[in-house]
This record gives sequence, structure tokens and C-alpha cells, in this order.
Amino acid sequence: MSNSYLQLLLVLVIYIISAISAQPHENYDDSVFTLQVPTLEETNLDNLLSFGYYHKSCPQFESILQNKVKEWIKKDYTLAASLLRLHFHDCSVRGCDGSILLKHEGSERTALPSKTLRGYEVIDDIKAEIERQCPKTVSCADILTTAARDATVELGGPYWPVPYGRKDGKVSVDKEAELVPIGHENITSLIEYFQSKGLTVLDLVVLSGAHTIGRTTCGSIQYRLYNYRGTGKPDPTIDPKYLNYLKRKCRWASEYVYLDAITPKTFDREYYLNLKKNMGLLSTDQLLYSDSRTSPFVSAFTTTPSLFQHQFAFSMSKFGVIDVLTDQDEDGEIRTNCNFVNDYSY
Ligand code: HEM
Repeated sequence: MSNSYLQLLLVLVIYIISAISAQPHENYDDSVFTLQVPTLEETNLDNLLSFGYYHKSCPQFESILQNKVKEWIKKDYTLAASLLRLHFHDCSVRGCDGSILLKHEGSERTALPSKTLRGYEVIDDIKAEIERQCPKTVSCADILTTAARDATVELGGPYWPVPYGRKDGKVSVDKEAELVPIGHENITSLIEYFQSKGLTVLDLVVLSGAHTIGRTTCGSIQYRLYNYRGTGKPDPTIDPKYLNYLKRKCRWASEYVYLDAITPKTFDREYYLNLKKNMGLLSTDQLLYSDSRTSPFVSAFTTTPSLFQHQFAFSMSKFGVIDVLTDQDEDGEIRTNCNFVNDYSY
């Protein structure tokens, strides 16, 4: 570990220890209190995935992908956030197996939480180019995972190493995608949801930081502005000036509003500073600062600028290998078109 990483680690540990002694809580797991910096070995998934997986079969894979992501984001920067979210929804259901991309009646992408997912056309375009240059070689799951990383980097976010060799799944069920959180949950259910994927409270807080970019439709937050929990009043935790701004901005449910009101186009720690000012847009964002299990991490990310970026990279490496299908799984394949499972009838 380099000196700067050690310093960051020290800062986080000191910060958290002081925060915890001020706010004791029973259910802490010690392992979540350390900054975890990714190393190539750690993300190697017992050699089932590897960084050199396409070195021989498609050496140009990473550069095709990076150029395509750059091109698309140059034309429409909002796609960066959409690609990152698409990856989140993919890995949340049946692991990172490209199942969100399957397009048929009753597939994940038809479920309610998937309704506003975007960026499918970017993945299709990348896949088409890769199929031209390296037919039947690179999985849609690897493409989506890598595109999410490259999109994050494009908006100033951190780089993290992505090992390859994921296979594409053949099953995609809308009911399973209904379980992906939509922003109305309480912290306990978010923690439990993340734990069910092998992720910690720290992962929950740092991955929620993806909301430093991107937007939501007003329809999903209007209940906070007018009738919070059936009170007929706004959510009292929203900063009054921010509330006025949101009421003006959200006259129509179909309007968009940025998740980070201050620097929506930059991947930075502003999201956490907003939470401290009661300017979290989704209630699940704001709750991260009011719950004693998650608030120490929010505070840590506001005080040490690079901490968020380092930890986000680590947690994303962990996230990108959830329940992956590999060469050893018969259930996986390399789809030739990301929208459909391969047709074996010919
Ligand atoms: C902690 C639980 C989470 C909840 C409840 C949640 C909920 C939401 C909601 C409701 C939206 C707005 C959707 C819309 O109206 O179009 C959204 C957007 C977004 N989410 Fe999350 N999310 C969570 C975690 C994550 C994670 C882990 C990531 C990625 C690592 C992520 C990345 C994004 C991004 C980038 C956007 C903006 C998408 C766009 O602009 O197209 N979210 N999220």
C-alpha cells in the first residue's frame, strides 16, 4: 500500500472511531470500518475471471469500448449516469450476467424499477462493433461492466480494474427485478438488500454516492414535496430553500431533476455535502445521514476528499463480480446480440 493510501486509511479509522464513540450502535461489523483499496489480486475472483482474458482473443476490446463510451458521452453526457445505473440493476438481479439487457416479454427490463433505465443503445452499438472485430468472443456482461467503469471515469470519477470472463445469463425475470430499491425504502431494508448481495453498510453508503451524477423524474419524488407519509405536508427533513426549488422545478411528473443539485455533471463528493445540508433528493439518500449506522461514513466522505473516490473504486470492483457466471458454468454463453439469448436451433 502506498503512503497516501495508508494516510487515508488512518483518517477514516480515526474518524469512524470518534463518530462511533459519539453515537454507539450495537450492530456494527468491525470489517466495515476500514478503507479498502483495490488490488489486482483481490479482484481476481480465484482466477475464474482475469485481466488478461481477452488479451489473445480480442486485444482491441478495451480500446473499442473506451472510444465508443467517449463518443456517446460526448454527444449526450447524461448517458454516463445511465450506464452506471444499468450496471447496478444488472448485477442486482442474478449477478452481473447481462440479464437486464434481455428484451422479451416479462424480462427484467420490463419491471417497474427498470422503467427509466437508459443506455441500452450504447451497449448494442459497442457489441455490434466488437462482434465485427472479434465475433462470438466478448460477453455482454463484460461489456456492460466495463462501460459503467469508463462512463464513471469520463465524468471525473475513479478508475477501477475490471477482470473479464463473465458469461451472459439466459434467464431474465421481471419479478426478480421488482426487488431492486426505488428510493422509498428505509435504511434497514437497504442494508439488508445490500447484505443479501454480500455487500456491507460501507458499500451501501459509498455506492449510493453514484447519485453524485444523474437525475430522476419528478414523479418519483413528488410525494416528498406535497404529501410525505400521508401527512399532506412536505418531508420536514428537506431544506426549505431546496424544497422551494424542487416545487418550482417539479411542476410536471415527467420533468427531470438532478440527484446532486450542485455539481450534477461531475463525479465528486458533493453528494455527501448535500446530505449534510438536507439536500438529498431521494429519501433513501437523505436517510443515509440521519441513521447512525450510515451517517459516520457520510461524514467521512465529506471531510476527506479522495476517500470517496478510492472507496467507490474498491466497492465497485466488489460489486462487478457479484454472482458472475464463468467458463465453469454451463448456464452461461457469449450472446451475439445483447438483447436476445443465442438461437441454438440452427
Ligand atoms: C441504495 C439504493 C439505491 C436506490 C434506492 C436507488 C434509486 C435510484 C432512483 C429512484 C433513481 C432515479 C431513477 C429515475 O427516476 O429515472 C436512481 C438513479 C440513479 N442511480 Fe440509483 N439507487 C440506488 C443505488 C445505486 C447504486 C448502487 C448505483 C451505482 C453504483 C446507482 C446509480 C444511479 C445513477 C447513476 C442514477 C442516475 C441515472 C440516470 O441519470 O439515468 N444507484 N437511483
